[in-house]
Amino acid sequence: MLFVLCLFFVSIPFSITQTSQTTIRTTATTKSTTTRKNDCVQLSPYCTCLGGPEYIYCNNFTSFSQLDFTLLGEKRNITYITFVPKQPLILNNSLNLNGIELKENVVFNNIVGIDLNENPFIKWTPKDNLSLQFFSSNFSQLMPCDKNLINENFKPIFSSFKTILFGYRNIYSAQLCPLLFYNSSLSYLNISDLTYSGQPWFSDLRELSTIHSKIDTLLIPSGQNTRITKSLMNRLIFENLKTVLISNTILQKIDDDAFSDIFNMRFLNFSIVNFEKFFKNSTNKWMQSLNTKIRVDYSNPEWLNANQNNSLLVNLNPLYSSFFFYFTDEDYENFQYFPHDNFVFARISMLYPLKCSKTMNFLLKNFEQYPLDLSNLNTTATYECLANLLTSPTYSSTLSTTPNSSIKLSENFKFIFSLIFIYFFAISI
Ligand SMILES: *[C@@H]1O[C@H](CO)[C@@H](O)[C@H](O)[C@H]1NC(C)=O
Ligand SMILES: *[C@@H]1O[C@H](CO)[C@@H](O)[C@H](O)[C@H]1NC(C)=O
Ligand SMILES: *[C@@H]1O[C@H](CO)[C@@H](O)[C@H](O)[C@H]1NC(C)=O
Ligand SMILES: *[C@@H]1O[C@H](CO)[C@@H](O)[C@H](O)[C@H]1NC(C)=O
Ligand SMILES: *[C@@H]1O[C@H](CO)[C@@H](O)[C@H](O)[C@H]1NC(C)=O
Ligand SMILES: *[C@@H]1O[C@H](CO)[C@@H](O)[C@H](O)[C@H]1NC(C)=O
Ligand SMILES: *[C@@H]1O[C@H](CO)[C@@H](O)[C@H](O)[C@H]1NC(C)=O
Ligand SMILES: *[C@@H]1O[C@H](CO)[C@@H](O)[C@H](O)[C@H]1NC(C)=O
Ligand SMILES: *[C@@H]1O[C@H](CO)[C@@H](O)[C@H](O)[C@H]1NC(C)=O
Ligand SMILES: *[C@@H]1O[C@H](CO)[C@@H](O)[C@H](O)[C@H]1NC(C)=O
Ligand SMILES: *[C@@H]1O[C@H](CO)[C@@H](O)[C@H](O)[C@H]1NC(C)=O
Ligand SMILES: *[C@@H]1O[C@H](CO)[C@@H](O)[C@H](O)[C@H]1NC(C)=O
Repeated sequence: MLFVLCLFFVSIPFSITQTSQTTIRTTATTKSTTTRKNDCVQLSPYCTCLGGPEYIYCNNFTSFSQLDFTLLGEKRNITYITFVPKQPLILNNSLNLNGIELKENVVFNNIVGIDLNENPFIKWTPKDNLSLQFFSSNFSQLMPCDKNLINENFKPIFSSFKTILFGYRNIYSAQLCPLLFYNSSLSYLNISDLTYSGQPWFSDLRELSTIHSKIDTLLIPSGQNTRITKSLMNRLIFENLKTVLISNTILQKIDDDAFSDIFNMRFLNFSIVNFEKFFKNSTNKWMQSLNTKIRVDYSNPEWLNANQNNSLLVNLNPLYSSFFFYFTDEDYENFQYFPHDNFVFARISMLYPLKCSKTMNFLLKNFEQYPLDLSNLNTTATYECLANLLTSPTYSSTLSTTPNSSIKLSENFKFIFSLIFIYFFAISI
């Protein structure tokens, strides 16, 4: 507890300094050109480098072909390049990147579509660790999407990047083609602000069984009214998806069949800001759609051995939302569909040990069979109950449902926690 307190007070001055620095830097870059040197006057009128020679910002152009980076004379390393066309454009080979060497980030605004057959980033590969970001784009142009596009030279844009973000103010009025992800190798695909009407949706390429897409983590980093649907969780794009992390979002709904086409997921991590509201709102039947290709036989050691890489761990972390979620008997119906039979396990986080309850016992049942790092399941929240489960696996649900120590805790620390909440809320703005 003391530790949390210290962290709290130590981090306030730190974050204030950070924020003010950012503010200063932003004002500096947006101030008029007279106070800041433009390090790429050669690229005017469309591009400026007010943040330093490695930061290019291009706007007010009406075609990518208006941009010519060879005017810089010497080839330049660029860590951040931002494109803000004056009118909506298709991202295609009319963007010519000769003259610059990209190092980290590429940002596009106002894009209507992505040409699958053209890739201005063709000389970069995921090994170069480039990030691609889209903001304020209305993906409204329906682009050709057909398995016949695939040939030995088929290297769509996404296959050149290491991470991709679909950020704020994007609209998806036309279907995207899953082939965008052909042969991609992404450590992260980040999609923020997912709502039911505002999320990428994908054409159906029924006749294909693979697009060689390797996305390690799908991160949903922010959003209000976030909804996870089956049409987002495309079977081809996420054919090798390992982790889904839903973080800092207000999660409204996960559709019952959301994950029913996803077969290689190993971690589903929740650090949402409305954990209690979300999980208590329904019976969470969507859990049934997890890892459905696997039917486990816990009594068969051979099966367990052969499937040691096929488990799925659901990380239940209420801490971003509530310090008082105890997984009590009454919560049982919210977790009743937890799919133990599909080789799915639960990891529960909390600041203090939780007593065994009907819900805890149910979620942690079979925990000893978790084939990966078992200590991962043995958290501050669970170690007491795990010990209990080992000695007396039967639990009478008529026992008191909330641990006494936790009640005391809540009284003492409610005030502090509220402070921390306000604090996190403030820095997130
Ligand atoms: C944008 O370009 C037009 C000409 O095409 C010019 O008149 C205008 O001043 C430019 N705006 C900015 C903000 O540079
Ligand atoms: C560009 O970056 C590479 C390393 O990434 C470095 O070797 C090279 O010297 C840099 N070029 C310039 C002009 O700074
Ligand atoms: C790129 O798309 C634009 C429309 O945004 C189009 O006018 C242009 O011809 C295309 N260029 C190439 C090289 O495909
Ligand atoms: C890309 O990132 C990996 C892992 O962080 C690193 O080992 C590698 O050197 C990076 N490559 C480049 C070109 O920076
Ligand atoms: C997005 O583009 C479509 C098609 O051009 C258009 O009908 C729609 O109004 C656009 N949405 C917004 C918010 O601009
Ligand atoms: C996606 O999120 C990860 C984790 O926060 C981050 O490292 C990566 O840079 C993000 N990618 C983009 C393109 O924003
Ligand atoms: C995928 O890309 C790699 C290079 O990153 C290449 O070696 C491989 O042939 C490509 N695979 C397919 C199916 O196109
Ligand atoms: C709870 O469920 C109702 C009905 O499905 C929905 O309208 C509401 O947004 C949900 N609330 C939360 C916090 O998830
Ligand atoms: C998801 O949770 C697992 C298990 O706690 C953890 O090892 C992993 O790092 C988490 N992944 C992400 C992207 O947060
Ligand atoms: C599981 O994964 C590990 C590490 O990637 C590998 O060494 C092992 O052979 C795999 N086991 C099975 C049964 O596929
Ligand atoms: C959990 O971890 C504690 C030490 O932190 C250890 O004493 C206990 O035996 C572990 N429980 C299980 C079931 O592994
Ligand atoms: C909980 O508190 C009640 C009354 O304060 C006490 O009688 C009981 O023994 C306590 N139970 C535990 C498990 O500490």
